[in-house]
Amino acid sequence: MLVAAAEMLSVASSAAASRRIWFSVRHYCKPAPTKLRISEALSGAEVGTTVKVQGWVRSVRLQKKHLFLHVNDGSSSKPLQIVTSSDLSDPLLTFGSSVEVTGILKKSTHQRQPVELQADEVHVIGECNPVNFPFKIKQTPSIEYIRQFPHLRCRTSAFSSLLRIRAEASATIHSYFKENGFVQIHTPIITSNDCEGAGELFQVEPPIPEIDENFFSVPAFLTVSGQLHLEVMSGAFSKVYAFGPTFRAENSQSRRHLAEFYMVEAEISFTQSLEDLTKVMEDMFKSVTEHVLAQCAEDVDLFHRDVRPGHRDAIDVMLQKQFPTITYSEAIKILNHSSERFMFPTQWGCDLQTEHEKYLVKHCGDIPVFVTDYPYKLKPFYARDNKDHPEHTAAAVDLLVPGVGELCGGSLREERLDVLRAQLEEVGLEDTYSWYLDLRRFGSVPHGGFGLGFERYLQCILGVDNIKDVIPFPRFSHSCLL
Ligand code: 4AD
Repeated sequence: MLVAAAEMLSVASSAAASRRIWFSVRHYCKPAPTKLRISEALSGAEVGTTVKVQGWVRSVRLQKKHLFLHVNDGSSSKPLQIVTSSDLSDPLLTFGSSVEVTGILKKSTHQRQPVELQADEVHVIGECNPVNFPFKIKQTPSIEYIRQFPHLRCRTSAFSSLLRIRAEASATIHSYFKENGFVQIHTPIITSNDCEGAGELFQVEPPIPEIDENFFSVPAFLTVSGQLHLEVMSGAFSKVYAFGPTFRAENSQSRRHLAEFYMVEAEISFTQSLEDLTKVMEDMFKSVTEHVLAQCAEDVDLFHRDVRPGHRDAIDVMLQKQFPTITYSEAIKILNHSSERFMFPTQWGCDLQTEHEKYLVKHCGDIPVFVTDYPYKLKPFYARDNKDHPEHTAAAVDLLVPGVGELCGGSLREERLDVLRAQLEEVGLEDTYSWYLDLRRFGSVPHGGFGLGFERYLQCILGVDNIKDVIPFPRFSHSCLL
């Protein structure tokens, strides 16, 4: 019948003829099942219709005359329950195998799933040997265990939840900036500058030994920050932002450092106060977090239940309270008055270490805290000189958050040509940054900005201890798997 109908269709030329033929096909054929994603099936909108779903088996249970499957395709935190006759049971139908299922969507009598699929066809697309598959049915492997399988960990509930949350947070950050009048700039990944001046650069070179000169004719590196390129744009746009991969050759195995991470950076023109920056940091943190907690409630719950029990309460406190601000000098006094024994020194002029940052956050009530006005010597050449004596400080600010430490780093930028030139001369960079000085020659404005580490943000809101567990493919010293 179908073949005959298809032949009729292929010979039909006029629109009227094809309408007539379509009518006849509908009359004699069973309607093709509607293909649905699991989230669409679970919404219940298609109850009563014949549908087809595709996905991976999350559980298999044979009970008397019935076979129960849970199938997910990554579109939902919950799988869809499939019920079918035990006659359709197949030894290849195992945990982890990929399947295509056709049947009628029905309202379920069970509270835990609003709908189920009464299947009349179940096809195994790709088998999965349960003996060799590293994840086992009915087991919740630890986050450390699944980290060993970067090519397979997206199959676990925890990591697929993480990936959905990460995608939602990323989209929400873009929406936040759009709604607040920021223009997105695609800053380059390959660059010839070392924005932070810390020498943590990966050099970029093609492996062609016969070419004498290097490819770009100048040393080129993977970007450590898009800030300087954003500053170029902030000479024509009063609010800009970038959100992209950032690279640092830090020889660190720590729980909060990666060699490749994503940074959100914003740059605001016509501002002379750090408060303008801290307002954006706090507002973005709170509004993005509120949205993610609401949109990904079930995925987030998994972390707040299994990974860091009780973390939801801690996040709620962070969202309710205003973030306090202390100066670096006050921070040093707090550290010096504490009874805690720190590994690193705490006299004025020292960089704040993770242990200090964590202590300061606790001291301020376990909520995010801004620390401002760091010693001038600790900050890169672009930070605005506060020109204060005897404590020579820069108009710089870090946001420290519970469990992680530094989440954001920012500053007002030195917009005064003479001050900036003198600073660049002192560090021997006046020729390298002649273009940067030009920005101060032609319509310079007071401006400032900040960068937020996206993975550290996810660690903070989910209570994840190790940064390697919040990025799809972690890169760090001595590890570049896949
Ligand atoms: O404090 P940082 O180094 O600031 C800058 O790069 C500025 N140029 C940004 C700007 O003003 N536009 O880095 C910003 C944030 C840090 O606070 C931290 O959260 C994150 O980036 N970060 C890292 N995250 C993971 N792994 C690393 N190795 C990181 N280094 C910095």
